[in-house]
Amino acid sequence: MSTESGISRRSMLVKIGLLLNGIVGAALAVPLVRYLLSPVIREKKVGYESWLPLGGLEQFPAGQTRLATYRNPVVSAWDGETADIACWVRNVDGQTFQVFAVNCAHLGCPVRWFPQSNLFMCPCHGGAYYQDGSRASGPPERGLFQYHYKIEGRKLFIKAGEMPTPGRAANGLGSTKREGATCA
Ligand code: FES
Repeated sequence: MSTESGISRRSMLVKIGLLLNGIVGAALAVPLVRYLLSPVIREKKVGYESWLPLGGLEQFPAGQTRLATYRNPVVSAWDGETADIACWVRNVDGQTFQVFAVNCAHLGCPVRWFPQSNLFMCPCHGGAYYQDGSRASGPPERGLFQYHYKIEGRKLFIKAGEMPTPGRAANGLGSTKREGATCA
């Protein structure tokens, strides 16, 4: 083996090593880059954070709380009825609404509305919430989660596709239409 051929062989092995390292590095970088870009990518997904109709305003009489459902906008064909998501709609005074996630803020059991007592009750561990969604008693440490909503053309819409989470800024949605929402 000549010095020249040894050098060229070593040089070639170094280049192959660098190439393999580059390939592995690129493969590892893909999920990292996707994670870093996920807020941008997510905004562009069709259906995610969509405004979805819950129904005409006449379905939610003033002063009452009614169950409504919407179809999960991020859905697969085989999801069937599991993609129908329930929520509680409270028409406060004919002008203002509250739309609550049906899941208890403790461990997620579906809460039920009891108009006789003006309370949402959770069947799992006895959590209770007042009619405005605030915590009344039991294990939940906070009130019910709420959706952003808006009214358009005498219909009630909610911003669905993401679970309402605690600490979310109240309604930075920027629309000129009447909207409301807060986290309880
Ligand atoms: S899940 Fe509702 S009180 Fe525990």
